[in-house]
Amino acid sequence: MRQKIAEQRGVSTESILVGNGSNEIIELLGHAFLRPGLEVVIGAQAFIVYKLVTQLFGATPVEVPMADFGHDLDAMLAAVTERTRLLFVASPNNPTGVANAAADLLKLAEGLPEHVILCLDEAYAEYLDEAPDLSAAIHAGRKVVCLRTFSKIYGLGGLRVGYAYGDPELIALLHRVRQPFNVNAVAQAAAAAALNDLEFVAMCRTENEVGRQVLCEGLTALGFETVGGAANFVLSRVGSGAVVFEALQRRGLIVRPLAPYGMADFVRITIGRADENQRLLSALRELLESGEIASVR
Ligand SMILES: Cc1ncc(COP(=O)(O)O)c(C=O)c1O
Repeated sequence: MRQKIAEQRGVSTESILVGNGSNEIIELLGHAFLRPGLEVVIGAQAFIVYKLVTQLFGATPVEVPMADFGHDLDAMLAAVTERTRLLFVASPNNPTGVANAAADLLKLAEGLPEHVILCLDEAYAEYLDEAPDLSAAIHAGRKVVCLRTFSKIYGLGGLRVGYAYGDPELIALLHRVRQPFNVNAVAQAAAAAALNDLEFVAMCRTENEVGRQVLCEGLTALGFETVGGAANFVLSRVGSGAVVFEALQRRGLIVRPLAPYGMADFVRITIGRADENQRLLSALRELLESGEIASVR
């Protein structure tokens, strides 16, 4: 698996670590590099696992306000102290669906001091027109670890496979804290086959873009503002996210309420297939008409 990924990325096998989902690798970063007294710089509405893992290892999350729902890289760099060990950026971010420009991410990688590891989480990078590319920084010896996953565009979430590529010295340390057989053989076989299925990836990307437009137009027509959309979900301001979540769940539809992210008036809606998107929009229309959810116009 590592060899196949290394070949596809044009890097050495030593630069690759495969994980039980990329979530496992986030935890491995904690095992290898965090302890009480150290700090981790994260975006205030970034993927919540960064904060949970930081707390799990007794380190301190330093939450930096986001700018227009994306990571404010300058503010994050300014939040770095002597105690910072890790800085996480998800691009596109979950749940906001906003990506940072590739050039800005490279600038961040080059601007961080030696004692800080940049973890660039690329879980949704395949949905972007221009995926970030930190290979120049990695080759230059910068302390960078990038995360990829088979759970999103490849559709293999239940099998649990993700991988990290980055500075070989950091990757070697992560290998030392993982379990010896952390990714099972079935998952590896599926991921290895998926890796070369570029046609499937291209098809999902196109379908996702079509679905995103349908959902955004439909939500806007119902009076709900939409944000993000660089990944396979959109963020929508629906009034009370909790009320909308419960009303939709009663109709067999699950969206993500975002109170834990400090965005109680939003839900995150996964872009589905054409029929699923229509089902969601119809359900919202009916809920508005019946008064089960309030209009935000
Ligand atoms: C930004 C981001 N990173 C990592 C993950 C973890 O994915 P997995 O552990 O399935 O690879 C997710 C999943 O929701 C995510 O949204």
